[in-house]
Amino acid sequence: MNKILVIDFGSQYTQLIARKVRELGVYSEIWPPTAPIEKIREARPQGVILSGGPQSVYEEGAPAASPEIFNLGVPVLGICYGLQLMAHLLSGEVAPSTRREYGFASLRVLGRRGLLSGLKDMEQVWMSHGDTVEKLPPGFHVTGRTRNTRAAVIEDPKRDFYGVQFHPEVVHTKEGRKVLANFLFRIAGLIPDWDMGSFVERKAGEIRKTVGRGRVLCGLSGGVDSLVTALIVQRAVGKRLTCVFVDNGLLRQGQYDGLMEMFRTKLDLNVVGVDASEDFITAGGGVSDPEKKRKIIGGLFIKTFQREAKRHGGAKFLAQGTIYPDVIESAPVQGPSAVIKSHHNVGGLPKSHGFTLVEPLRELFKDEVRALAAELGADRAFIAQHPFPGPGLAVRIVGPVDRESLGIVRAADDIVVREIRAAGVYDRLWQAFAVLLPVRSVGVMGDQRTYQRVVVVRLVQSVDGMTANWFPAPSGLLARISTRIVNEVAGVNRVVFDITSKPPGTIEWE
Ligand code: XMP
Repeated sequence: MNKILVIDFGSQYTQLIARKVRELGVYSEIWPPTAPIEKIREARPQGVILSGGPQSVYEEGAPAASPEIFNLGVPVLGICYGLQLMAHLLSGEVAPSTRREYGFASLRVLGRRGLLSGLKDMEQVWMSHGDTVEKLPPGFHVTGRTRNTRAAVIEDPKRDFYGVQFHPEVVHTKEGRKVLANFLFRIAGLIPDWDMGSFVERKAGEIRKTVGRGRVLCGLSGGVDSLVTALIVQRAVGKRLTCVFVDNGLLRQGQYDGLMEMFRTKLDLNVVGVDASEDFITAGGGVSDPEKKRKIIGGLFIKTFQREAKRHGGAKFLAQGTIYPDVIESAPVQGPSAVIKSHHNVGGLPKSHGFTLVEPLRELFKDEVRALAAELGADRAFIAQHPFPGPGLAVRIVGPVDRESLGIVRAADDIVVREIRAAGVYDRLWQAFAVLLPVRSVGVMGDQRTYQRVVVVRLVQSVDGMTANWFPAPSGLLARISTRIVNEVAGVNRVVFDITSKPPGTIEWE
């Protein structure tokens, strides 16, 4: 299979480059700049892309790549910082630009033989840089410029080295896809051989080899990754896969039954349902601290899962839904753009679990996993569902969790989601939910004075959950949500709307 390595110099777009390459049908991996050249050689890439990055090449501590990359004998494409680093390492000169360029720019195309093949005379591109290449390295010539940047595209077709100052991976660069395709197909001569259909068959074959006649266990979380993992393993070993789905009592209204129905009836998975819905209240009912709540829930999940594993003895293999961003983020040597997730790994088993891990999604990005889910028969509504935190409704109740609070927040959450769906805005939101506060306020219902709980409605838009904007919902929609919650959820007499973005807020309240 063809392979492109993307060397990560810390750009926020590094993963986007790798994903765009895959969308074009070529497998790509992200490597840190510190990767030894021998390892890169062993990986046998057919091309290398140097990503952008926030620094200047001449700054102390700026990440560099081994100049040996230019001796691999494969085409190299530098993007933004990658272009500057290439110029710097190949004896050109880079200097701070007198005019920084940020945002849209018009690229004048001067040469269409290589990277810019098929582009018009003027093209819209997206720029974000302070430095520019002042002196070209020997062998290069300029094939594209903008008003402020003379060397916006440079090419050395003899050695197959190319550089673009703009970002071809972002949508604002209109023909960015064509530029990347030119690099992959015209220049590196690759054929698109990466697609999801062949992926399932290849992985299933690998799993069959690893597992032999053995049995596999897989914990289902209710999310897409663990389900797709199970479906691929099922393809490989059939009924020798046992899935475990734990009801921790902190799920949404109808979630457990709905999912069980899909797992068993529609997808024919061999699933053991475990009712642990009383366990959290018993173990952590009085706890208010969010991190403690998370630890207790994580611990209970592990205990429950291990108990089930024993009952279904004989499984030596454990299937897990680790995906590529998890791999990049927990790699021993990380590239500068890796973001470390802190509190989001509920349910991670201790290292000493004794199973051999089967992780068929380790190479995939989230959108590739979603595409697979559809191909493997999961419901569309399931695939497009909003993220739901592992600790579930426990972190949607500020303060201690008890049965009454759980009932309130579950009912309020259900109303929020139903109304959002009915209004046709579900797919425009990253998350929509209710939070229950440990506060009472005075109200009046009928002729009665009330003193009851407060529910917060939280609606946010986001691309990746790292930042988020509160959603300016139409007032009619907010009114419907508020009226329904107060009328239908006993114990609540006030609804407030959260107008905090992230940062400075987080998406969840805990
Ligand atoms: P925050 O609240 O940090 O959340 O802005 C960012 C995204 O992560 C989700 N989230 C979690 N997911 N376990 C999870 O599996 C957790 O403990 C957890 N906490 C937050 C949150 O819903 C949002 O999508």
